[in-house]
Amino acid sequence: MLNALILAADSALRTLWAEPRASRANPASGVAELPLSDAERRQSGALMRVNHVGEVCAQALYTGQALACQSPALRAQLAEASREETDHLAWTLQRLHALNDRPSVLNPLWYAGAFAIGFAAGKLGGDKVSLGFVVETERQVEAHLQSHMDLLPAADMASRAIVSAMKADEIAHAQMAQKAGAVELPAPVQSLMQAAAKVMTTVAHRL
Ligand SMILES: [Fe+2]
Ligand SMILES: [Fe+2]
Repeated sequence: MLNALILAADSALRTLWAEPRASRANPASGVAELPLSDAERRQSGALMRVNHVGEVCAQALYTGQALACQSPALRAQLAEASREETDHLAWTLQRLHALNDRPSVLNPLWYAGAFAIGFAAGKLGGDKVSLGFVVETERQVEAHLQSHMDLLPAADMASRAIVSAMKADEIAHAQMAQKAGAVELPAPVQSLMQAAAKVMTTVAHRL
């Protein structure tokens, strides 16, 4: 138990206050930077802040689920997916800085909420439900990232490159969970997750 708590605290501190280290190159590197107007830069910054919050939540969800999960095999899979989420965390943060913008001031709150949800999903539902939760989360994130491909300024090729690479990873995460035996979550739970995501994305757009 103590071990688990130390792990959780370590993940929270690293996600919130350390510079995340990506294991793969940033998809934006080498992409030509076209000039953005002030309004475009702000729009890109707001969207990339939302995406960064999403990745903070992904760290929290996967950590919460890994701590609650029963099978060591699943724990290893969650850890693998969460390593790719760390790349996303780093890429979105780097892009925010390049856009002269800042991450959400509410990140500790987002982290705590997502951690509690991930832990509860694993503890209350068991491994199959936890996997179902991964599938549904990743599906929603994928749809959300797709919408950003329309909302990002056309000139912001760097942000687009990052969002598109993340989308491909999220699809793979959903497939991994599906293959591992995920159960479909009940519709009311899916709606509840959608509502929670809506609150998070709306607030994080500004704060
Ligand atoms: Fe991600
Ligand atoms: Fe993911």
